[in-house]
Amino acid sequence: MSATQNLTYSIVQVVHNLGAVAAVGGSFAAVKSRSASTKKNVAWIALAGWVTQGASGAALGAVSFYFYGRFPDISGVALYALLLKMACAATGFVLMVAYLYRADEWPVKRIDWVCLASLALAVSAISAAAFLRWFS
Ligand code: HEM
Repeated sequence: MSATQNLTYSIVQVVHNLGAVAAVGGSFAAVKSRSASTKKNVAWIALAGWVTQGASGAALGAVSFYFYGRFPDISGVALYALLLKMACAATGFVLMVAYLYRADEWPVKRIDWVCLASLALAVSAISAAAFLRWFS
């Protein structure tokens, strides 16, 4: 790999890693916050994390395509791990958008459930990342 290629992968991976921190940390803080306004503020961090993960994950694929002319050839456990990550990012995004735009009409129990679900999805995705890394 050339230095340019390594640098490009590294920069996108930095964004992807920080997005993972935002998805996990934002969801965790939303679960833990007792005040409704703090919960909403940190839920924005979780949403930013989900958006970042979708975009930077796609960018990692795009970088491979740019340098090799095709996407990485993955199958089996690695492919399932990638699909799981994509499903987590899409579901986490939908849940956080629904919460942030509809929370005023929602009972507290539903808000708590949605924040917990976002945390479970983030933990699942970050765990799947390890399988994607070592089975590909
Ligand atoms: C659309 C969704 C996603 C796509 C397409 C995607 C794609 C990728 C790719 C291609 C890699 C590089 C794998 C390798 O080095 O072999 C990666 C690594 C990683 N992803 Fe994702 N990802 C997505 C979502 C997520 C989410 C939601 C999280 C966590 C909340 C996450 C956390 C990580 C971490 C921590 C790594 C580094 C793994 C390591 O090198 O040990 N990803 N991802």
